[in-house]
Amino acid sequence: MTQGQASGRGEVSIRDLSKSFSLNGRALNVLRGLDLHVESGQCLAIVGASGSGKTTLLRILAGLEAADSGDVLVDGAPIHGVGSERAVIFQEPRLLPWLTVIRNVAFPLEVRGVSATEAADRARHYLRLVGLLDFSEAYPAQLSGGMAQRVGIARALAVQPELLLLDEPLGALDAMTKMTMQEELTRIWSEEHVTMVLVTHDLEEAVYLADRVLVLPKHKGGVIRTIDVDLPRPRDRSEPRFVALRQSLLAEFGLH
Ligand SMILES: Nc1ncnc2c1ncn2[C@@H]1O[C@H](COP(=O)(O)OP(=O)(O)O)[C@@H](O)[C@H]1O
Ligand SMILES: [Mg+2]
Repeated sequence: MTQGQASGRGEVSIRDLSKSFSLNGRALNVLRGLDLHVESGQCLAIVGASGSGKTTLLRILAGLEAADSGDVLVDGAPIHGVGSERAVIFQEPRLLPWLTVIRNVAFPLEVRGVSATEAADRARHYLRLVGLLDFSEAYPAQLSGGMAQRVGIARALAVQPELLLLDEPLGALDAMTKMTMQEELTRIWSEEHVTMVLVTHDLEEAVYLADRVLVLPKHKGGVIRTIDVDLPRPRDRSEPRFVALRQSLLAEFGLH
């Protein structure tokens, strides 16, 4: 059984991407002329005001939504719908309540044709990675919000994606659990060498986790910016350079 990912996978290239929706017969331009490159194994955070198109961009990468124009390539190949090389984690883990924790993680593998024994083995590996091996036989209703989300992360990783797409995965958690989970995510990301694209409205989370932050403009037609977070890990939230980066991100939104 191979664990983790070989390097050189999960690279994202987006060129001149545009997407609009039709709203009451009028076109609503959500994304326009977006260029983006995410290196294999990098973590990119996407931040922006509510309605700026963060989820839309993530859904396009997931293959759940089609772009109007432009190229969206993963490892050099255009995306066609959903694929097992890309896994998505939403704010709610959406576990199946009638299955135990381990069965929740193993189930998507079995659906893909992995034998029950191998699926259970792999599920155990990823439950250990997220620190929940002792809860293998528990049911979702017996877990806290943070634990349920960790099961969701184990389930997504178990299919061994090249690209992990996360849409505000910690948004529903309390502040303390959230900080612990940010540390966990950093550790998991570095152990798995998986490319991550993370949507968040939490600017500190973006600075804590990402190599680069994509800032979607507040107003349509505004400039799309990227900010490099060139800080060593594990990151220290009180370190002056960390604080300065968080401040400069806040300033992008006119906040102080
Ligand atoms: N399926 C859809 N049909 C029509 N409008 C949509 C659809 N999905 C998103 N939108 C609109 O696109 C804009 C961006 O939405 P979204 O990507 O969800 O923003 P964010 O995640 O940044 O809050 C919003 O104005 C939203 O109303
Ligand atoms: Mg959203």
